[in-house]
Amino acid sequence: MKAVLMRGIGGVEVLHIGEHPDPVPKDDELLVRVRTTALNRADLLQRRGMHPPPKGVPDILGLEMAGEVVGTGPACGDFKVGDRVCALLPGAGYAELAAIPVGMAMRIPENLSFEQAAAIPEVFLTAYQNLFHVARLVPGEVVLVHAAAGGVGTAAIQLIREANAVSLVTAGSREKIESCLILGARAGWNYNGGPFAPWVAGQTGGRGVDIVLDFVGASYFEQNLQSLATDGRMVVIGTMGGAQVEKFSLRALMTKRLQITGAALRSMDVPRKVALTRKFAEFALPRFADGRLVPRVDTVFDWNDVAKAHERMETNANIGKIVLRVTK
Ligand SMILES: NC(=O)c1ccc[n+]([C@@H]2O[C@H](COP(=O)([O-])OP(=O)(O)OC[C@H]3O[C@@H](n4cnc5c(N)ncnc54)[C@H](OP(=O)(O)O)[C@@H]3O)[C@@H](O)[C@H]2O)c1
Repeated sequence: MKAVLMRGIGGVEVLHIGEHPDPVPKDDELLVRVRTTALNRADLLQRRGMHPPPKGVPDILGLEMAGEVVGTGPACGDFKVGDRVCALLPGAGYAELAAIPVGMAMRIPENLSFEQAAAIPEVFLTAYQNLFHVARLVPGEVVLVHAAAGGVGTAAIQLIREANAVSLVTAGSREKIESCLILGARAGWNYNGGPFAPWVAGQTGGRGVDIVLDFVGASYFEQNLQSLATDGRMVVIGTMGGAQVEKFSLRALMTKRLQITGAALRSMDVPRKVALTRKFAEFALPRFADGRLVPRVDTVFDWNDVAKAHERMETNANIGKIVLRVTK
């Protein structure tokens, strides 16, 4: 098969399309002809040698895909050749073929294109897991979402809305904030206007938020703690603003009874990913089918332009997901 390969590690110039051995599906796996895949920040890190794939996964980028089933193992239930599916992958999504455990396949609702479907797995499953399983979001709570116009943020805003909860968001431009409000955020703060903590205090009458969904890390840590209400929870799932917090008093955790936790999807074992996918599919697929949830696609690139796609993400230009179309 063809796949996007890397001539060593480095900038976008290392990416090129070349030949790679086909994946060999197991009895309980589907072989899928990949029609679309999508970018994630992890791809940029992997390209630079900072986020190696898990053991046994080829060093090909790509954490998700959408496509058509072209082969089914004997333990693949009622899936058949031609079914449209999308799924999370541990890697190797930038390729013509993927083998996926049948339990991780999500049937694509008829109203969604392959371009839209590839924009679902990684960011929606991440937001779903962290909001509902890790942070235990309940109706009426208020969530602060940073980097909210990105892939995970645009998914999180919609899931929070569907949970009858409230999102407050931060992002780096007026246009990005506007997009978040359209998706259902209650209010947004452009961080170029100054620190967000006083704004959060104003929005919540001084109470603070119940949950912070944080991808930024060290540079926001202090303000995140200030912004949490008593019994607040913070989930750290990215460190775009640094991973080292220089000074931190544990006292804040006690006085406000805070919980800080972290999570990562890629390193989860397959049975847990299958369980998460099944729960998410039950919740979300009917909502995608009737339009309550919409994958926010920023741009679609032909995979021959993968370098341009990476540059777009690297310069923080995207609102929602950047999708790659796998062409002949
Ligand atoms: N742990 C997990 O399982 C998991 C899974 C998926 C994603 N993630 C992580 O979640 C994060 C977001 O992913 P994504 O797919 O939403 O990415 P994305 O679509 O590329 O959006 C990221 C946005 O973050 C903002 N940003 C970048 N650097 C920043 C900084 N230093 N401070 C504040 N904002 C910054 C930029 O928007 P502005 O213009 O608003 O600054 C950028 O467009 C990444 O760190 C990713 O690795 C973790």
